Amino acid sequence: MKILVTGGAGYIGSHTCVELLNENHEVVVLDNLSNSSEESLTRVKKITGKSLEFYKADLLNKKQVDAVFLEHKIDAVIHFAGLKAVGESVSIPLKYFHNNITGTLNLLCAMNEANVKNIIFSSSATVYGDPLSLPIKEDFPLSATNPYGRTKLMIEEILQDLYRSDKNWNIALLRYFNPVGAHKSGEIGEDPFGIPNNLVPYISKVAVGFLPRLNVFGNDYNTPDGTGVRDFIHVVDLALGHIRTLPKLFTNPGIVIYNLGTGTGFSVLEMIKGFETASGKKIPYKIADRRPGDIAACWADPAKAKDELGWEAKKTLDDMCKDTWNWQNKNPNGYR
Ligand code: NAD
Ligand code: WQD
Repeated sequence: MKILVTGGAGYIGSHTCVELLNENHEVVVLDNLSNSSEESLTRVKKITGKSLEFYKADLLNKKQVDAVFLEHKIDAVIHFAGLKAVGESVSIPLKYFHNNITGTLNLLCAMNEANVKNIIFSSSATVYGDPLSLPIKEDFPLSATNPYGRTKLMIEEILQDLYRSDKNWNIALLRYFNPVGAHKSGEIGEDPFGIPNNLVPYISKVAVGFLPRLNVFGNDYNTPDGTGVRDFIHVVDLALGHIRTLPKLFTNPGIVIYNLGTGTGFSVLEMIKGFETASGKKIPYKIADRRPGDIAACWADPAKAKDELGWEAKKTLDDMCKDTWNWQNKNPNGYR
């Protein structure tokens, strides 16, 4: 199949391109490189020994999006492109609404016009807000606590409306928990610009000596060790979740929703320990105030994806830490 991957140069997108090529799909990437580097795609080609087509294009430019559908007969779209920094979305919400919502609308209009009606959308566990109980199932109540999360919820609703209006659409909403890790080759990985917002990239920058210590945001949560608990999932497992979802789209399922998580939560302190073991580096940390907007704990019930897609996460916490460290150690400055 020929798959258009928006945001394919980014962290999850590049890992998904590897798995798509490994499965002999043809891959077309559209990315404006606003949060990524074309080098990631060079590395994807190196890992797989296969080629892909790249368009440096912006979803906000409808003509650029149309051009891709004119030049290729696309079978399905995997839509990763979007801005994702929660804190930044609070300070500049309009940029987030414009990029994520308008960008998605341009993509959906272009798809509609080209009669391409199969799409996998990158949603997030953030759409569950602060869950009433754990583990989280797909039918739990939804809410948003910040503009970034609201863009995910709004896009989910737009896609629901689209399907209601036209039953020829096949749409998978994949709600990712906390993606971490890197490809085992160490060629591709997460490469945040500036100081990382998320836990594992931050730990990794401390391990490599670029940051002096980690701030642990709160140790007075109602969790076993008092620090936040999350469902960390290896990015390669996550990428494979997309590969398993693709055939589902071609059974005309309408709109389907899956949690992509491991079903197990680890705390911030457990993550630090895991990383120390995997890297052999000490991670200095200090306990700081809670980060506004954070929840105590969050992990998935991934049973639906296992039952309906035959997918489950296989990699361990040790794999996540080892592979992150291998990538960071081999590429201290990321792709630059
Ligand atoms: P990323 O920033 O590494 O990748 C996103 C890519 O989209 C980047 O390469 C960026 O340049 C591109 N992009 C952004 N706006 C664009 C536009 N207007 N036109 C074209 N390209 C554009 O992020 P990621 O971690 O790989 O996340 C991929 C998707 O998964 C995002 O939609 C994100 O919201 C979602 N998600 C991520 C996480 C996470 O923790 N990483 C969790 C849940 C959901
Ligand atoms: C994990 C834990 C922090 C940094 C975010 C988004 C979510 C989704 C995934 C996109 C928490 C603690 C963190 C640090 C720390 N993204 N922490 N010190 O907040 O669960 O989820 O990424 O959809 O929408 O909100 O991930 O990695 O930022 O935090 O102590 O320097 O690590 O308090 O308990 P989070 P995270």
